[in-house]
Amino acid sequence: MDYPESRRALVEERLEAVLDRVEPTELSEEVRHVALSGGKRVRPTVTVLSCEAAGGVAEAAVDFAVGVELVHDASLVVDDIIDRSDTRRGTASAWAEFGYAPAIIASDGLIGEAFELFSSDPRATVAVADAMVELGEGEATELVARPTDREGYMELARRKTGALFRAAAELGALAADADPVTVEAFGEYAERVGVAFQIRDDVLDATADAEELGKPTGTDAEMGRPSIVQVTDLDAAAANDLAREQSESALAALDRAETPDETATGYLEDLASFVVTRER
Ligand code: IPE
Ligand code: MG
Repeated sequence: MDYPESRRALVEERLEAVLDRVEPTELSEEVRHVALSGGKRVRPTVTVLSCEAAGGVAEAAVDFAVGVELVHDASLVVDDIIDRSDTRRGTASAWAEFGYAPAIIASDGLIGEAFELFSSDPRATVAVADAMVELGEGEATELVARPTDREGYMELARRKTGALFRAAAELGALAADADPVTVEAFGEYAERVGVAFQIRDDVLDATADAEELGKPTGTDAEMGRPSIVQVTDLDAAAANDLAREQSESALAALDRAETPDETATGYLEDLASFVVTRER
């Protein structure tokens, strides 16, 4: 098993243990369906690698990593209801599998479990709460006040995707007891990776094959969502260039952080490239 894969396995194992304790059986089945359906685990990987890059041990960040993934999963459940999207990660989305009410309860349950994992450190709780405010306001803005230019798009992408990525990295740095300047540098790195990730997400919605992507495509155009290709006159290639720019700024931010562990830092650098070249 290679290094990032071994970190993903660590997260996966802890995630299963957290979901195992959920009651009653019906809720347990729902949250397991949502959280164990084969996501890429990008955000929790950012948390664990950030902790290690900042000089901590992976185990110290695993609870926070799982918590971030659960918050992300909860947001996907709601996102799929909003978008009437019946497939997620190659399987039925929560509402399509269980109905609206159980899906919403599952989303709430996931957030509850997540905050229990953050509760050991008030700084972690604050970081995630801030991200969730941004995420919620970003999703709401997307529906009622669509951006009309690149600047507005970038701000929306920062809020709905960048903010949780930022929290993911900050949690890792906090778990490593990094100094505040380093925590902020990791945060900026991940926020920019998140914006790059979102731009690529929009490009894939417009260009990818639904089967390969594991979720419906063409949704942004169909639903009138403010994706980078809807809001600006950029074509897919130019949008990818924009994502690459963000990813380069991410590396510049990472450079400012105190990163004693070169191996983990190298994987964070790789991740910044992965998000702009990914096919799913
Ligand atoms: C998709 O996130 C939703 C966005 C915030 C753009 P991911 O593409 O990371 O979803 P999974 O977790 O791998 O399924
Ligand atoms: Mg969506």
